[in-house]
Amino acid sequence: MTDTSQLQADILAQIDVASAPDALEAVRVAAMGKQGSITLLLKTLGGMSPEERAVNGPAFNGLRETVTAALSAKKAALDEAALNAKLAAETQDMTLPVALPATGSVHPVSQVMDELAEIFADMGFAVASGPEIEDDWHNFTALNIPESHPARAMHDTFYVDGKPDAETKYVLRTHTSPVQIRTMMGQKPPIRIIAPGRVYRSDSDATHTPMFHQIEGLVIDKGITLAHLRWTLETFIKAFFEVDDVVLRFRPSYFPFTEPSVEVDVGYSSKTNKPAGAGQADKWLEVLGSGMVHPRVIAACGLDPDEWQGFAFGTGVDRLAMLKYGLTDLRAFFDGDIKWLKHHGFSAFDLPSISAGAVL
Ligand code: DAH
Repeated sequence: MTDTSQLQADILAQIDVASAPDALEAVRVAAMGKQGSITLLLKTLGGMSPEERAVNGPAFNGLRETVTAALSAKKAALDEAALNAKLAAETQDMTLPVALPATGSVHPVSQVMDELAEIFADMGFAVASGPEIEDDWHNFTALNIPESHPARAMHDTFYVDGKPDAETKYVLRTHTSPVQIRTMMGQKPPIRIIAPGRVYRSDSDATHTPMFHQIEGLVIDKGITLAHLRWTLETFIKAFFEVDDVVLRFRPSYFPFTEPSVEVDVGYSSKTNKPAGAGQADKWLEVLGSGMVHPRVIAACGLDPDEWQGFAFGTGVDRLAMLKYGLTDLRAFFDGDIKWLKHHGFSAFDLPSISAGAVL
């Protein structure tokens, strides 16, 4: 018994001081291996008398169990310490810049849409969207473009095949203006939204593609005037082109869904190739269609035009991207040429934000 206690104390002491897995393994082999002290001790049970065995059997087995438990407890402790050391050594600094080159890039059109959303969000506008396959009523009728209206022909519409006698006719939306209708019908004023997205017209040459991108803006509230429109557009143009000063020209125009309608020209400096203020601008660039939302459009959406007024505007996103980033060929936008995308694309980690200065 005394021998067993002594042996147990010795082995437990060795386990205690083993500071690495291989040292612990050596202790295990010395005790429980083929020639180990405990293994040899257990073998002696075979040569004992039943009485001796009755006393020593439980003692030897108890010794083996105690040592086995101590070995596995120590092994778990050593494993955990090793894991913690590894985790500490492998700590990653998540604030470090991304290792470049990162694969893929953000298309200039997507970049510009993100910039526009950021600029207008700062002015309290939400982003709205609508379907690209649109019905005749939302795309035309509700926007004060009735069946026989010449504006329908102006739009070079793609019609979607349906039953010839079907009541609802579908088109690929020819502009983002139907999102105005969906928004006014879907939520109560006051409304402040922009709606960027794809539009389609049966038109194709160096400056026209059958699919292109527009952004629509809509404000509906009480007491809204052209002055609000002017301030909004000025603020947007300055932020988007990153200039301090800009001069706008409102030219009377015609759109069925606005009254009065204006086309907005931006004073442009051919020296800086950017919009500029009154002193610096040496030419006009047409950038937007806009106007006060026609009372008939407001009424078509179930709102009372005597109570609610607003302004709307619409422009081409592709053209804005070309102007801002000096791109000359619209068709290259949609070729999917990897070299072009690598050259003109933006890093996905370089998100536009007003506060970071990327868009202001
Ligand atoms: N929907 C017009 C187009 O595609 C652009 C436009 C003009 C939108 C005037 C408007 C607006 O919201 O007020 O040519």
